[in-house]
Parts: sequence; C-alpha cells; structure tokens
Amino acid sequence: MLPFRSTSGRCVALVAALLQVVGGVILDVDDPASIKNATRIVARGLMDYYKGNESGGAMVGLLPMPYYWWESGAMWGAMVDYYRFTNDSTYNNVTTEGLLSQIGPADDFMVPAQRTTEGNDDQAFWGFAAMSAAEQDYEPTPSGTPSWLQLVINLWNTQVPRWDTSSCGGGFKWQIFKENKGYNYKNSISNGAFFLLAARLARYTGNQTYVDWAEKSWDWSSEIGLIDKDYSVFDGADDKLNCSSLDHTEYSYNNAVYLYGAAVLYNYTNGSSIWEERTTGMLNASALFFDPYRNATNIMYESACEETSTCNTDAQSFKAYLSRFMWATTQVAPYTQSAITTLLRTSAKGAAASCSGGKDRVSCGSRWYTGSWDSLFGVGQQLSALEVMQGLLINSTAPPKTGDNVYLAQARASASPVPLPSPTSTRTAPTSSQTSGGELGRRVAAGSLLGACLALSMGAIA
Ligand SMILES: *[C@@H]1O[C@H](CO)[C@@H](O)[C@H](O)[C@H]1NC(C)=O
Ligand SMILES: *[C@@H]1O[C@H](CO)[C@@H](O)[C@H](O)[C@H]1NC(C)=O
Ligand SMILES: *[C@@H]1O[C@H](CO)[C@@H](O)[C@H](O)[C@H]1NC(C)=O
Ligand SMILES: *[C@@H]1O[C@H](CO)[C@@H](O)[C@H](O)[C@H]1NC(C)=O
Ligand SMILES: *[C@@H]1O[C@H](CO)[C@@H](O)[C@H](O)[C@H]1NC(C)=O
Ligand SMILES: *[C@@H]1O[C@H](CO)[C@@H](O)[C@H](O)[C@H]1NC(C)=O
Ligand SMILES: *[C@@H]1O[C@H](CO)[C@@H](O)[C@H](O)[C@H]1NC(C)=O
Ligand SMILES: *[C@@H]1O[C@H](CO)[C@@H](O)[C@H](O)[C@H]1NC(C)=O
Ligand SMILES: *[C@@H]1O[C@H](CO)[C@@H](O)[C@H](O)[C@H]1NC(C)=O
Ligand SMILES: *[C@@H]1O[C@H](CO)[C@@H](O)[C@H](O)[C@H]1NC(C)=O
Ligand SMILES: *[C@@H]1O[C@H](CO)[C@@H](O)[C@H](O)[C@H]1NC(C)=O
Repeated sequence: MLPFRSTSGRCVALVAALLQVVGGVILDVDDPASIKNATRIVARGLMDYYKGNESGGAMVGLLPMPYYWWESGAMWGAMVDYYRFTNDSTYNNVTTEGLLSQIGPADDFMVPAQRTTEGNDDQAFWGFAAMSAAEQDYEPTPSGTPSWLQLVINLWNTQVPRWDTSSCGGGFKWQIFKENKGYNYKNSISNGAFFLLAARLARYTGNQTYVDWAEKSWDWSSEIGLIDKDYSVFDGADDKLNCSSLDHTEYSYNNAVYLYGAAVLYNYTNGSSIWEERTTGMLNASALFFDPYRNATNIMYESACEETSTCNTDAQSFKAYLSRFMWATTQVAPYTQSAITTLLRTSAKGAAASCSGGKDRVSCGSRWYTGSWDSLFGVGQQLSALEVMQGLLINSTAPPKTGDNVYLAQARASASPVPLPSPTSTRTAPTSSQTSGGELGRRVAAGSLLGACLALSMGAIA
C-alpha cells in the first residue's frame, strides 16, 4: 500500500504521479460500507509509515523522523477512534502496544528519552489517545498496568504543578524543561490541551477539581487575550514580556481543543448558557478554516499556511484535530450537529478526492479544495483525511461514556507523584525570535515536495 517503497522509488513515484493523476479513494458519504472501505484504505496508508515493528524494539510506538514524538501520540489517538468508528480491530494490538510503550516510568507519559522534544502539548496529545480509549470501552490495558483513565489522571496531575504564576498572571509554558526552545512561550495548544483534558476528566469522573481547573485555564486564556472577544484563538505569547504581545497566528488545532473542551463542559453542565455561548463562539470562529475559495464552500483548510505552501510537517496534521474534535462536538453538543456535519461532509469528499497520489493512487494530499492530489504526502495528510472521513460514521457510534470508574478499580494503588527527570547541563538561552511563527518556529519545515522527499529519504536511511 505504501506508494513510495524505497527512497528513490518514493520520489520517482512522486514525479510519475505528478504527470497523471487518476483513481483515488472512492467515497460515498451516505453509504456506511463505502465510508468503511475508504477509511480502511486511508488507515492502511497511515500505518505504512509506522515502522515500529521493524526496528528491533527501538522505535516501538514511534514514527520515524521527520515526525516528532507528539505526532505518534496523535496517530494512536486516531487509531483508537478508527476502531470505535469502524469496528475494524486490525490495528488494535499495535495501537495498544504503541501507547503503552510511552507511558514512562511513572505511568504518566513523561518519557525521559523524549526530554528534548516533550512539551506540555506533546504530552497532552498522548493523553488524548488514552482518554479516548477510556471513554469508548476500547480494550482495557493489561493487568498490572494502570487503566487508560488512570494514565490520563496521572498525566494531568503532572501538569497542574507546572501552572506558572511567575509571569502573565498564570498559564502553562509550552515547554516543561528550561533548556528546550520555547520555554518562555505560553501558548494556546498547551493551555487548550490541558483545558480539554480537564473538561473530559470532569465529565468522566464528576470530580469538581477538574471543573475548577478547566474554568481557570479558560479564564486565563481569555484574560491574556489568547482567546479574544470573537473567539479567535492566537498561537501564544512571550512570558518574558509578561504576555503583553501575542503571536497572532491562528491554527485550526488551537480552535479545536477549546471548541471540544467547551462542548464537553456544555454537556457536563446539562447545557449551561455560558458553555453554550463559548461552544457556539468557537464554532463560529472555526469559519476561518473553511471556504478558501468560491469553488470550495465548506471545505476545511489550514488558513495560516496551506495556500502559501508553508505548512511544516506538524501543521500538515492540524486538520486532523479540527476534524476529530468537531465530530466529537456533535455528540456532546447535539445542537451543533447540523452545522458541523454540513462542513465536514464536504470536507471529507474533498479529502477523499485528494487521496489519489503515488503509485497506488490512494496517497492523500494536503489541499482538499483542488479535487485531486496536490503532490504532498505524509503522516499528517493521511491522518487528516482519516479523521475527517471516519467521523462520517458517527451516527452509528456511541457517545463518549461517563464513568462508573470501572477501570479505576484495576489501577495500581500506588500512583504516587514522581519527580521529573533532572535537567541536563546543556542549556540554550531562549531567544526572542523563537516565538515568531509559533509552532512553526521550532520544528522541522518539510512542507515542500522536495523537503518531504528529502525528509523521507533521511528517515529511511536512519
Ligand atoms: C474500496 O475502495 C477502492 C478504492 O476506492 C475501490 O476500488 C473499491 O471498489 C472499493 N470497494 C468496495 C467494496 O466499495
Ligand atoms: C507488531 O508487533 C506486535 C508485537 O510485537 C505484534 O503483536 C503485531 O502483530 C505486529 N504487527 C505487524 C503488522 O507485524
Ligand atoms: C460497530 O458495531 C456496533 C455494535 O455492534 C454497531 O452498532 C455499529 O453499527 C458498528 N459500526 C459499523 C461502522 O459497522
Ligand atoms: C492481538 O493479540 C491477541 C493476543 O495476543 C491475538 O490473539 C490476536 O490474534 C492479535 N490480533 C491481531 C490482529 O494481530
Ligand atoms: C503581568 O500580567 C498579569 C496578567 O495580565 C498582570 O496581572 C500583572 O500585573 C503583570 N505584571 C507586570 C509586572 O506587569
Ligand atoms: C479529584 O481529582 C483530583 C486531581 O486528580 C484528585 O487529587 C482528587 O483526589 C480527586 N477527588 C476525588 C474525590 O476523587
Ligand atoms: C445534570 O443533570 C443530572 C440529571 O438530572 C444531575 O444528576 C446532575 O447533577 C446535573 N449536573 C449539573 C452539573 O447540573
Ligand atoms: C455565532 O454566529 C451567529 C450567526 O452569525 C450569531 O448569531 C451568534 O451571535 C454567534 N454567537 C457567538 C457566541 O459568537
Ligand atoms: C450530552 O451528551 C449526550 C450524549 O451524546 C446527549 O445525549 C445529550 O443530549 C447531551 N446533553 C446536552 C445538554 O446536549
Ligand atoms: C478552486 O480554485 C482554486 C483557486 O483558484 C484552484 O487552485 C482549485 O484547483 C480549484 N478547485 C477545483 C476543484 O477546481
Ligand atoms: C446523522 O444523523 C443526523 C440526523 O438524522 C443527520 O442529519 C446527519 O447528517 C447524520 N450524520 C452523518 C455524518 O451522516
């Protein structure tokens, strides 16, 4: 299925496919059998990038470069949902193994080997996957391992003490460790991801502590201006300037985490007007990520970088999370169903049409408004197409359950707080330029055709 088998083959196939694009993933958005078939093909294309089984154990749970640690967690989250939507258990074993490989020595997704790459947001993306497993009766963790729910609670409890009142009146820094670039950046994805986990834990457990923290993190995000009065969500702020000036870049995944968190709290509060207004506000603001052109009404795109071909490897996957959390929103805030379904059905059609690249002509591209493959490919493209397409099955899927805390019973009794790994001696002084471009600043840019070819080649050699 992998369209680009060897390094040179990949690029040859790429060039060949540029010359003529036919075929592609056929999707009838009204036919569950067609949706299942199409998502099966896209999921297989995604899992072809995972080489954890071929690495002699070194890369279990992890994608090869250029994909950072967090994106593997994001992928497993999609695969947990894939099973929920389709009932196809083909990848359950590898998904469970992948997730459990990264829970770390304290069962909280703090992984010493990932110290240079693990920020609050990165950790949270693994938490999203474990939380989905808890909410949907995905297969339980093996005995002797904490439940999915307990893993998320442990993760969340590592984040709370990182709430930082030394600047900006509070908030989470992007980074956990001082030596990592971005330590002085307080960003929306870290704060919004914590907010979302708090909201989901509140709904699942009924524990008021999570509600209090969800409110506190939303209020802070709003007070500091990361969420503005129109519910636009900006990327982040420099805490050395006390968050007095913001990076106003808007990415779809920032909107997504606040949207779904608000919807979950709307549900938990039995439809409170405050969380309804915030859910509606975020949904209104998500309009920024649709309708790039007149010929592309209701098609999702990454407005900050897609048309200019400047989306990096991370950003190629952001549409996955907006899709995931918009679909999820329709279940916990049913009043949004009609509006969201209209947007995502059209987007799914566009995504399927983009999955016509490579030798096998089912490799997904990044621009869903072109009606064909745009010559870009990668984990982010597969992930985004998978999430927007599999959500079409949501009507035959149970909503996230709330807890009888059945799995808590099997949790290890001793989930005691564990100290973070000690800092290494190599510290790089953060520079003021690190906040420009937000997330795009730190991570490898491989959005171009050549970049993707090179990056994949390097990944294949490594
Ligand atoms: C599944 O999808 C592939 C590719 O779109 C298509 O060729 C095939 O006919 C589909 N099969 C079914 C049973 O729909
Ligand atoms: C990957 O490895 C796991 C455990 O080692 C095994 O259960 C699974 O079947 C393997 N999957 C593939 C696709 O080889
Ligand atoms: C998955 O299985 C459940 C329970 O048997 C069923 O209700 C649902 O329709 C199935 N979903 C699909 C997409 O086949
Ligand atoms: C998953 O693991 C179980 C237990 O080891 C095994 O029986 C089953 O065949 C595996 N399934 C797949 C799809 O690899
Ligand atoms: C920093 O920002 C916070 C939140 O806006 C504010 O309460 C505090 O007074 C500011 N501190 C300084 C030194 O300006
Ligand atoms: C509520 O959650 C907090 C944070 O995880 C925990 O410390 C506390 O023990 C929980 N309370 C109950 C009653 O479970
Ligand atoms: C929501 O409604 C249920 C059932 O009426 C009730 O038990 C629960 O306390 C309510 N929750 C809130 C937060 O009002
Ligand atoms: C959302 O948009 C609708 C339609 O434009 C508008 O009536 C409503 O006031 C908006 N709600 C919020 C909370 O922004
Ligand atoms: C909360 O979610 C459940 C499950 O999807 C749904 O049935 C219920 O209507 C939702 N509550 C509100 C207030 O929309
Ligand atoms: C829609 O318009 C854009 C910009 O002109 C173009 O790039 C794209 O190919 C068009 N899509 C279709 C399906 O014609
Ligand atoms: C789910 O059912 C509702 C109500 O029948 C319908 O409006 C909506 O389009 C369906 N969703 C999808 C994704 O087909």
